[in-house]
Amino acid sequence: MTSSSAPVASPAPSAASAPEPGSGLPDFSGEVAAYYAEYRRGYPPAVFDALARTFGLDAHAGIGDLALDLGCGTGQLALPLAAHVRTVIGLDPEPDMLRGARTAADRAGVRNALWLLGTDADVPALAALLPGDRPLGVTVIGNALHWMRPEELFGALRPLTRPGGGVAVIANGAPVWAQDSDWSQALRGALEEHFGRPITASCGTDAAERERYAAALTAAGFTDVRDTVIDYEDALTPDQLLGTLFSAIPATSLPSPAERPAFAARLRAALPAPPTAAGYPEPVRISLLTGRA
Ligand SMILES: C[S@@+](CC[C@H](N)C(=O)[O-])C[C@H]1O[C@@H](n2cnc3c(N)ncnc32)[C@H](O)[C@@H]1O
Repeated sequence: MTSSSAPVASPAPSAASAPEPGSGLPDFSGEVAAYYAEYRRGYPPAVFDALARTFGLDAHAGIGDLALDLGCGTGQLALPLAAHVRTVIGLDPEPDMLRGARTAADRAGVRNALWLLGTDADVPALAALLPGDRPLGVTVIGNALHWMRPEELFGALRPLTRPGGGVAVIANGAPVWAQDSDWSQALRGALEEHFGRPITASCGTDAAERERYAAALTAAGFTDVRDTVIDYEDALTPDQLLGTLFSAIPATSLPSPAERPAFAARLRAALPAPPTAAGYPEPVRISLLTGRA
């Protein structure tokens, strides 16, 4: 695993692209949430070490930090982060995702996590719940900012963040249909045939979107805005690849349970054979865009 970090200048904002295959609205309900909980990869320990170092996170009971995971999904960030802070609040508008997060926390024995139904627009309402002398140590947003209003959100978070704490906008690799490899291109082609249109969503991972987020952090008064990159190699079995894909298709666009085996069979037929028993090789680049208060 390698990691590097560089300051980010503040370029002009640019338009965000459409979010996901299928409809442009986030819908992680029902089976999509179940696929998410089972198949979406989490984050390696280097991510949490970097967060703890950057924001000086404190896990002591009573005096330690409060963390907010905005768009927490089924807890991929919130659960490991809980070990580095006093309490983590997972906020998400999808009840099925929150239910998955709660179940995962119970299984992992994580007791210092709370799960709240809400969106980025509800962040100002959190102010009343936060202790005045010890507001947020860190807010993490993993693979979710493309559904939010970054400018308003960062402006709301800035006064709720303790000095030295901050915000981390995290991208967990590129979507499985948006990579350079032969298998990713084959998957994209099969999806374009199914949906009948180009699949271009980068889900907040492309350079233009990251630059817009960096500019919004700076405009909201966060400083030392920088991008830290963590690279590692992974592999996806065909089941993991399809499970990961199905976790990203809005519930309204996911083929019905009766039609799904045929859909999955068409996708498998379009893919090359996995080159190794471990599956399709995937270089994973995690990007942590951080700004400090
Ligand atoms: C791709 S998942 C990311 C889950 C997790 N953070 C991760 O890193 O894997 C995106 C999540 O953002 C949530 N979401 C969508 N719109 C949101 C909004 N306006 N405010 C907060 N969360 C939102 C979705 O319900 C979904 O659970």
